[in-house]
Amino acid sequence: MTKPLPIAVFISGRGSNLQAILNAIESGLVSAQVKVVISDRPGALGLECAQKNHIPAYGLDVTSFDSKRDYECEVVRLLHIHGVELVVLAGYMRIVSETLLQAYLNKIINIHPSLLPAFKGLHTHERALKLGVKFSGCTVHYVNEGLDEGQIIAQAVVPVLPSDTVETLSERVLKEEHRLLPEVIQSIALDISRR
Ligand code: GRF
Repeated sequence: MTKPLPIAVFISGRGSNLQAILNAIESGLVSAQVKVVISDRPGALGLECAQKNHIPAYGLDVTSFDSKRDYECEVVRLLHIHGVELVVLAGYMRIVSETLLQAYLNKIINIHPSLLPAFKGLHTHERALKLGVKFSGCTVHYVNEGLDEGQIIAQAVVPVLPSDTVETLSERVLKEEHRLLPEVIQSIALDISRR
C-alpha cells in the first residue's frame, strides 16, 4: 500500500469542501492525509471543522503581515513544516502570488463554482442566472498567477432550471464540487504514487 498523499487545504469560509475531502478520505475513496488547514480569515468556520478532526489549523490575518510576500512566506513555512506535497484551494478567496506559486509549482489546485473559462471571479451564480445560461457547474484547475486560470483538470455540469435562484443553483453546484474535488485529489495521488 502506498503512503497517503500529504495535502494542505486552504479555506476562507464555512469549509464544506474541506469536510467533503475528509469524508472521502475517511471512507477510503481518497488516499490522502490533510496535514494542515490554512485560512486567510481567522474567523473562518471551516477552521472549527479542522480542529474537530484534530488537524493543525491556522487562521492567518493577511493585514497583520508587512506584505503579501511575508504572508506567503509564512504559509510556505507552515506547508514545509507539515510536509505538504499538494495544496488544495477549497473556497480560498485570495489570489496566490509568486512566493507560494514558486514553492509549489504545479502542485496547487483550485475548485471554482462555474464552467471555466466562463464566470471567473466572484458572484458566479448571480452572473450565470442573469445571462440565462442553461448549464453551469464547477471546475478543478491548476493554479497559476491569473484569476481562475491555469490548466483545467476536471469539470462537472449541472442544468440551470428556469425556477433557479442563487441558493438553489449554488446548492446543486456545491453537491458536484463535493464529489469532483475529492475525485481529482485521488487521481493526482495515484499519479504521484506511480512516479
Ligand atoms: C465553493 O462554492 C467554492 O467553489 C467557492 O466558495 C465556496 C466555498 O464553499 N469558491 P465551502 O467553504 O467549501 O463550503
